[in-house]
Amino acid sequence: MSQLQAFLDIASEAALEAGTVLQDKFRNLKNIQEKGRSGDLVTEADKAAEAIVLKVLNRHVPGHQILAEESGTLGGNDAKYLWAIDPLDGTTNYAHGYPVSAVSIGLMIDGIPQVGVVYNPFRNELFRAAKGFGATLNHRPIQVSQTAQLKNTILVTGFAYDRRETTDNNYAEFCYLTHLTQGVRRSGAASIDLTDVACGRLDGYWERGLSPWDITAGIVIVEEAGGLVTAYDNSPVDISSGRLLVTNSKIHDSLSQALLESPRLPADLYS
Ligand code: IPD
Ligand code: CA
Ligand code: CA
Repeated sequence: MSQLQAFLDIASEAALEAGTVLQDKFRNLKNIQEKGRSGDLVTEADKAAEAIVLKVLNRHVPGHQILAEESGTLGGNDAKYLWAIDPLDGTTNYAHGYPVSAVSIGLMIDGIPQVGVVYNPFRNELFRAAKGFGATLNHRPIQVSQTAQLKNTILVTGFAYDRRETTDNNYAEFCYLTHLTQGVRRSGAASIDLTDVACGRLDGYWERGLSPWDITAGIVIVEEAGGLVTAYDNSPVDISSGRLLVTNSKIHDSLSQALLESPRLPADLYS
C-alpha cells in the first residue's frame, strides 16, 4: 500500500468515527453558540467530532501539522504535512435539524491537496480520494458529469457568513447564473457541494469566503473524479483566497466567463 493510501485510510477511520458522533447528537443539542460573527454557529457536536478526529490523527501521525476549524493550528513539527479538518461542515443545517452536513478531512503535502475524505453520515456516503488513485463513493469509482453547455447545467453555490458586511457577497453571481442555467442550488455545506460535483449530481460549484478546512478534501475528490478547480478567472487556485470555481471541466470556461461578467446589483440594495 502506498503512503497516500495509508493516509486515506487514517482519514476514513477518523471521518467514520466522527460521523457517528454527529448522528448521535443530531436533534439532541444542548449547547448552540455564535462564534463572533452573526450566524456562525458552533455546537457540542462540532467540538466532540473534532476531538475524535484529532485523537485518531494523533495516534497515527503525531508529527504532522493540523489546522482544525474549532481548535486552530495544532500538531507536530513536520510542516510538509498539513491536515485541514472540518468536523461538521454544514453546522447551520445541523443546528436546525436539517440533515445536510458532513465531516471533511483533507491532507496537503507540500501545500498541495493530496488526500481527501468527506463523510455524510445522514446518507451514509463516504467519498474518498488520493492524488493519482481516483475518487470513490462508498468504494465505487465516481466521475464528474458530461454536461457541456451552461444552459443545460445545474450548479450549486453558497454565501459566506460576512455576506451582510460586503457587497462582494455572491448575490449578483447567484442571480445571473440562476438566469443562465437550469438552476442554482444552495446546500449549506461546501464539502457536500464539492462531492456532489465529483459524482456528477451537479455540474459546477463556485463560492467565496471559504476556509481551507471547507475545501481541501473536496478539491482532491473532485479533481480525482475528472473535475477542474481554479480561481474564478481560470488561474491556478489559491486555497488561502477562499474563492473556488469547480466544474466537470467541460463548462469551466463558460462558467468562469459568466461569473466575471455577472451584472452588479445596486450597492444599496439591502442597506
Ligand atoms: C460553511 C458551509 C457553507 C459555506 C460557508 C462555510 P460550516 O461551513 O460550508 O456551505 O457557505 O462559507 O463556512 O460553518 O457549516 O462549517
Ligand atoms: Ca465548513
Ligand atoms: Ca464546521
